[in-house]
Amino acid sequence: MFSPQSTVWTRVNTFRKAESIMRLQDKVCVITGAASGIGRATAERFATEGARLALNDINEVGLTEVAKQFSPEQVITRVGDVSLAATADTLVGEAARRWGSVDVLVNNAGIFLFRDPTDLTEEEWDHLMNTNLKSMWLWSRAALRYMIPQRRGSIIMLASMSAFCGQEIDGVSSFLYNITKAGALQMARSFATRYGPLGIRANAICPGHFRTNIIRHLYPTEEAIDQIFVDLGKTAPLGRPGRPEEVANAALFLASDESSYVTGHPLVVDGGVLVWQ
Ligand SMILES: NC(=O)c1ccc[n+]([C@@H]2O[C@H](COP(=O)([O-])OP(=O)(O)OC[C@H]3O[C@@H](n4cnc5c(N)ncnc54)[C@H](O)[C@@H]3O)[C@@H](O)[C@H]2O)c1
Repeated sequence: MFSPQSTVWTRVNTFRKAESIMRLQDKVCVITGAASGIGRATAERFATEGARLALNDINEVGLTEVAKQFSPEQVITRVGDVSLAATADTLVGEAARRWGSVDVLVNNAGIFLFRDPTDLTEEEWDHLMNTNLKSMWLWSRAALRYMIPQRRGSIIMLASMSAFCGQEIDGVSSFLYNITKAGALQMARSFATRYGPLGIRANAICPGHFRTNIIRHLYPTEEAIDQIFVDLGKTAPLGRPGRPEEVANAALFLASDESSYVTGHPLVVDGGVLVWQ
């Protein structure tokens, strides 16, 4: 065995100590789109690790439901459109005033659209771009105002495996969605370069197929949605769709100090879909 004086022994003890403390203890974490799916699972996971939560969603009923699970000391919420600067500035500012810092931002809110390039309207382009991509810049800008003077912070973009491919389902393209997700990944890389020297990290998570509400508007019943995700899951070597908490675990890694030397990285969480294609 290792002697108590050895470097390895010191390291083992450091790991043991790290295991016994919560990974986001008192970290102030801002999460957009927290009323459902991956955002909700991330809020719940972060809470179990001691985080203070500032949660946004456009869905007031859903957001209230999620926030009810936490103590009033642990959570604040702001209902509003993620693509408006006022929503971002208000919630991020409130979190900083209340708890004294902004440590983690999860740019999660997003919507999905199937539309071939020739059918897409300008209104659809603007709406999807604003909700999925402009929002990420607005919330990052709000958080960076605190992270830069702090000289620390972790920004996480919910991109997608569609950042890497021309995803389409049933012969219809998700053309513009794919573009917004490639943009999210590029934003993470650009922030990583620009703010790395200030101790701020930025990464992207690229999920595959996860059973959430993201395509609820496209299918008539919950059973139909279950079935489409079962079918999509079969395209993964792991043979099933992902569970939102499996993305939340990836977000926890990127938010915590366990990823202290990881930045500008696309963390693919897709059951292997991309390697199989
Ligand atoms: N589910 C998947 O298979 C999958 C795959 C890859 C990437 N993603 C990404 O993960 C993120 C989370 O999606 P999800 O699957 O959990 O979907 P979801 O629909 O379950 O959750 C998205 C949340 O964002 C909120 N939202 C939508 N528009 C908003 C707006 N304008 N302002 C504020 N909130 C708004 C919704 O109300 C909802 O609560 C999205 O960015 C999505 O693109 C999901």
